[in-house]
Amino acid sequence: MSDIITIEGGVPLKGRVRIEGAKNACLPIMAASLLCEDRVTLSDIPALEDVRTMCKVLDALGARTAYDPEQKKLQIETAAIIETKAPYDLVRKMRASFLVIGPLLARTGRARVSLPGGCAIGIRPIDLHLKGLKALGAEVIIGHGYIETVAGRLRGERIYLDFPSVGATENIMMAAALAEGTTVIENAAEEPEVVDLANFINAMGGRVLGAGTDTIRIEGTTKLTCADYTVIPDRIEAGTFMVGAAITGGEITVENVIPAHLSSLIAKLKEVGCRVEEEAGLIHISRREPIRAVDVKTMPYPGFPTDLQSPMMALLALAKGTSIITETVFDNRFMHVDELRRMGALIKIEGPTAVIAGREKLFGAPVRATDLRAGAALVLAGLAAQGKTEVSALYHIDRGYWRLTEKLQALGARIKRHPA
Ligand code: EPZ
Repeated sequence: MSDIITIEGGVPLKGRVRIEGAKNACLPIMAASLLCEDRVTLSDIPALEDVRTMCKVLDALGARTAYDPEQKKLQIETAAIIETKAPYDLVRKMRASFLVIGPLLARTGRARVSLPGGCAIGIRPIDLHLKGLKALGAEVIIGHGYIETVAGRLRGERIYLDFPSVGATENIMMAAALAEGTTVIENAAEEPEVVDLANFINAMGGRVLGAGTDTIRIEGTTKLTCADYTVIPDRIEAGTFMVGAAITGGEITVENVIPAHLSSLIAKLKEVGCRVEEEAGLIHISRREPIRAVDVKTMPYPGFPTDLQSPMMALLALAKGTSIITETVFDNRFMHVDELRRMGALIKIEGPTAVIAGREKLFGAPVRATDLRAGAALVLAGLAAQGKTEVSALYHIDRGYWRLTEKLQALGARIKRHPA
């Protein structure tokens, strides 16, 4: 029987919350462990559903993963990679499984991975991933729901990404790490998670330069060795709690965070009327002023993150005035709008733009998560709404948030999770 979350809104969040390691850094770094024929030990790895799924993918390829949820440590033995086919059902379940194709191809000369499922937030093609692998010398065959890639030793090349795709940048970077010669990725993604992956590859003895800029240079090598590595904090989890403080008119301190990774959100929350103070590893945020309407446009990093678009929309539904949110990264990331409307939000969609007419109150209602960030946004809306909100389809939330209910309870929220 699946669970639901029940919230009695109206309590301002107060207190301190510790942020977990970043899901979107863990997943590519776990895939990159395939590049070395040894053992890696990863720290600050959160016990998320997506981490468990990636462990299953690696185990199916012959790696041996051992995760300690108490220590939040993950060991991955990769000496015996025997299988080059990632299980269809797992790749369908989690798009990020597709990140094994680059390292697997570089390590074994072959990789067979099912076409990643589209999901609630758009068609999500992989053309840029395949453009990069082909440029490095791979033969790519698409058929029967699978991508089959074969190559001798990959050769470094200059590759231009038509869009600064995070996943394509990461797949190409991993494949290039064992290629012969130098690869340059132009118009690369600049996300902090891309930088974390580069730092991990370098910790294994690789040579990746320029990560965090739009031009990344990878000098291929023949062998990578074992490494111990701690992933960066999850800026999206941190941002979710910061919006929680803003929407409830509370005051919280977020710990284990890199403020520089959240500069676009901090700027927007200040425009909304929040007080935000940054310290090393900490962010203090409070809101006592009325919520001001602001315009938001999601962009690749360092622009406003698409993963915080739905939480921001929940906040702006309670603003004084009309806000405009433009989603430029994904072609269908407004699935949460219908659910927010059920709570009284006044939102009009025109293509990639949402026009939000702020109002005094939202009202508790039964709502459904449609992707993990939308699920979080509905929880945030419930924290501020009048009356009771019930959120279902929590498997979306469990993919990217560890103990969200417990952490919000500790901040004073009247929230509980129980069987439906
Ligand atoms: C990563 O997805 C994140 N996932 C997403 O987080 C995040 O929303 C996204 O980057 C953007 O920041 C992980 O890191 C595991 P993209 P990814 O390739 O790599 C188009 C979450 O909530 N595109 O940068 O799939 C694509 O259609 C998740 O944690 C192509 O056209 O994102 C999309 O419109 C959701 N061709 C845009 O680029 C390609 O070959 C951004 O996609 C690849 C992508």
